[in-house]
Amino acid sequence: MSATQATRSPAIGLDIGTSRIVLARPNGQEPEFRSQLNAFVSIPYSAMTEKALAREGIPYARKESVIVVHGDESERFADLLGVEIRRPMTAGMLNPAEADGTEVILRIVDSLLGEPAGKGTRLVFSVPAPPLEDAANLTYHAATLRDLLAQRGYQVDTLNEGLAVVYAELESTNYSGIGISFGGGLCNVCLAHLAHPVASFSIPKAGDYIDASAAAVTGERITLVRLEKENGFRFNGAFSTKIHQAIGVYYDNMIQSLVEAMQECFGSSRQLGKFRRPVPVVLSGGTALPEGFAARFEQALSAASLPIPISEVRLATQPLYSTARGALMAALAEA
Ligand SMILES: Nc1ncnc2c1ncn2[C@@H]1O[C@H](COP(=O)(O)OP(=O)(O)OP(=O)(O)O)[C@@H](O)[C@H]1O
Ligand SMILES: [Mg+2]
Repeated sequence: MSATQATRSPAIGLDIGTSRIVLARPNGQEPEFRSQLNAFVSIPYSAMTEKALAREGIPYARKESVIVVHGDESERFADLLGVEIRRPMTAGMLNPAEADGTEVILRIVDSLLGEPAGKGTRLVFSVPAPPLEDAANLTYHAATLRDLLAQRGYQVDTLNEGLAVVYAELESTNYSGIGISFGGGLCNVCLAHLAHPVASFSIPKAGDYIDASAAAVTGERITLVRLEKENGFRFNGAFSTKIHQAIGVYYDNMIQSLVEAMQECFGSSRQLGKFRRPVPVVLSGGTALPEGFAARFEQALSAASLPIPISEVRLATQPLYSTARGALMAALAEA
């Protein structure tokens, strides 16, 4: 897409996730997606380092005596320098331990946009459903990001992450069904009827929980566990290593917690009578990617008997992009 087209883009969908920020823009039949890790490292300033980074085309920002490298490059940098990667968000929301987190998020959004979109462009970004115990942080998270993006001149709205998955994936049932995003910080669930959210919630057990728990019991570094999980882990067959076995234990624990929360949340909804037919369940997010995950989840779901009948359980077409796609659809619908 050329800079001129981007400037005229009528709408932007943003998935501001704990692990990744994904941008979706209209681009003919299929949206264009771009993504970056929602992470950074800061290193002491030196003129030589600054020059080297500029020459390599690595995005960075200078702030007084430090240089901040953000996005995908931060991982390589952290590794090279032997420092820890830092994260602007934790458990789906702004990380209270990172005072400059919002600045990093804005820089990443700007770098994904390239040319800024025109003033008045509709921008919808995803927010988690309220976690069962911590709704006050969510209010702050959503309001802070909304204000900062509005200051850029956009017309900003938020969209529940689970509902975004429903928009992205469930056109065939007229946006009725269950959308689940298995992310880094949270799992987000939304039961929708004709594009309207009937019940939604999040739980703070997702990819980060699996990494930290499996690292704790095996004595390995969290980063190593995460790389093992992303590159070699699958549900089919026996686990070949201790790390895989531990990852499997915490995956099952996350699935079980989520299914129990679905029973509880949907069970207390008074609107289940609206659903005349069984509904589909769509699974998205990075944590849904390992081979065999959908089958494992379906097994747990059928053992639990939900208060609403399920027609099928399937993986989203592009699990890493569903939330951004749904946010873009919401932005376009209002544009
Ligand atoms: N191939 C893979 N196999 C298993 N896990 C993966 C894979 N790729 C990414 N992940 C995990 O997916 C998680 C990130 O998923 P995603 O990008 O959907 O999260 P997010 O939207 O940034 O977070 P959240 O929605 O919780 O705020 C991380 O825990 C990452 O380790
Ligand atoms: Mg997400």
